[in-house]
Amino acid sequence: MCAMPTRAAMTVPLLDLKAQYADIRTDIDNAIRSVMESTRFIGGPEVVALEEEIARYSQCAHGIGCASGTDALILALRALNIGPGDEVITSAYSFFASAGTIANVGGTPVFVDIDPRTYNLDPHRLEAAITPRTKAVVAVHLYGQCCDLTAVKAICDKKKLFLIEDAAQAIGAEWEGKRAGSVGEFGCFSFFPSKNLGAAGDGGMIVTNDAELGDKARLLREHGSRPKYYHAIVGTNSRLDALQAALLRVKLRHLDRWSEARARNAALYDSLFEGSRVGRPYHDPRTRHIYNQYVIRIPNRDAMRQALTERGVGTEVYYPVPLHLQKCFSMLGHQVGDMPHSEAAALETLALPIYPELTEEQIRYVAANVLEILEH
Ligand SMILES: Cc1ncc(COP(=O)(O)O)c(C=O)c1O
Repeated sequence: MCAMPTRAAMTVPLLDLKAQYADIRTDIDNAIRSVMESTRFIGGPEVVALEEEIARYSQCAHGIGCASGTDALILALRALNIGPGDEVITSAYSFFASAGTIANVGGTPVFVDIDPRTYNLDPHRLEAAITPRTKAVVAVHLYGQCCDLTAVKAICDKKKLFLIEDAAQAIGAEWEGKRAGSVGEFGCFSFFPSKNLGAAGDGGMIVTNDAELGDKARLLREHGSRPKYYHAIVGTNSRLDALQAALLRVKLRHLDRWSEARARNAALYDSLFEGSRVGRPYHDPRTRHIYNQYVIRIPNRDAMRQALTERGVGTEVYYPVPLHLQKCFSMLGHQVGDMPHSEAAALETLALPIYPELTEEQIRYVAANVLEILEH
């Protein structure tokens, strides 16, 4: 790749939430006004309704709103009594929260390398990482595609380990018809604004089919208080507020349409990159992929990113440092070379704009520039 003249004929941001707001503005504004007028800001009917709707959408019996996807993972781990001395296995290549939450409850993250095609935890490597101290697996559904839940669940059942699905990026994704979050003891969602279902701020939700575990998570999210001011266990304050819930309920009605538009955009990119040196995302035919991200693999990734920026195309590197090589986990003693697929993904991948409102012209512009930059 050599330097080429800058030519930004068009601007294509990585994400354009203004386009989404313009599409549903009246309903969003009405929902927000209605909460303001009700003054029910904590709990109340909007939160309860969203919990029921997300649970149903995710083929689960219970939904527990909370303050973020990070808190959803922490509350799930705590509800399963995971703490000091316990090991929890997760993928070496994910957003930091997948592992940081394990450390936050006092547990030890144990990393497993990914399947290089899907970027999800490779179930073939899972058993070798299990020790007598292993208590759970946090299985991440990265970029909107479920990991091999059949294989992971079978190993968890055989070894009597809890399964927490980190479905922060995968609401509505499916593994062989089963919705993300419905297979493990808990599924954890994030409503970070860039997710397919994004709030106007932070938010998260836990789903489960186990009434007892759901109740424990619910108790933990409100200081373990039941009845009010009586605390049998120590919890925290991690509530989803009513303004976010009301807005998310409006957006939930559009979620399938948006996820389908993302999949259509992905199919167009796929066809435009066919036969080129661009590594396209692998779509496992056993999954419903919701394309929270469209991630390509290319040589000279950083130079490609720079050249795309100059041509008006927004991109992102998810994630430049795999989890086992993060400084804060140096006590685990990992070295470069321990998780080769995660390390290669960290060096070679680049997320392109995939949001639902992209026009065909914008997608063609992005793809043409990727191909042209690659040729030089
Ligand atoms: C895989 C994964 N896990 C957990 C989280 C944490 O979610 P939040 O940012 O809502 O705390 C995220 C959010 O980006 C994520 O992508």
